[in-house]
Amino acid sequence: MYSAKVMDHFSNPRNVGEIPDADGVGMEGNPTCGDAMQIFIKVKDDIITDIKFKTFGCGAAIAVSSMVTEMAKGKHIDEALKITKEAVAAELDGLPPQKMHCSNLGADALRKAIEDYRSKKAAGG
Ligand code: FES
Repeated sequence: MYSAKVMDHFSNPRNVGEIPDADGVGMEGNPTCGDAMQIFIKVKDDIITDIKFKTFGCGAAIAVSSMVTEMAKGKHIDEALKITKEAVAAELDGLPPQKMHCSNLGADALRKAIEDYRSKKAAGG
């Protein structure tokens, strides 16, 4: 039911954890199932230099978050903002239809982390 890539990222998730001095933090909840996701980013010259995630989500959410962090790392924030849930699912060689909602969490939490970074920067932080 899951692709080999999903199983790989679920069993061996990349970039799990927290960044205590993160430049941006994004939290997203999934209204469909009540699960939640948090993404932390370090940014230098608008490039995401480090990224970590924590999730209270299902296996698909873990695989999605792992893949989102891999896709966003090293990218300019403008490019990272263009990462859609569809792109993440495609990169994982697809998700079962009933698990597509799980891919919202990763892309949305990333977007919120970038927005958080931008608002802190605008505030002079
Ligand atoms: Fe909640 Fe997948 S069932 S994120």
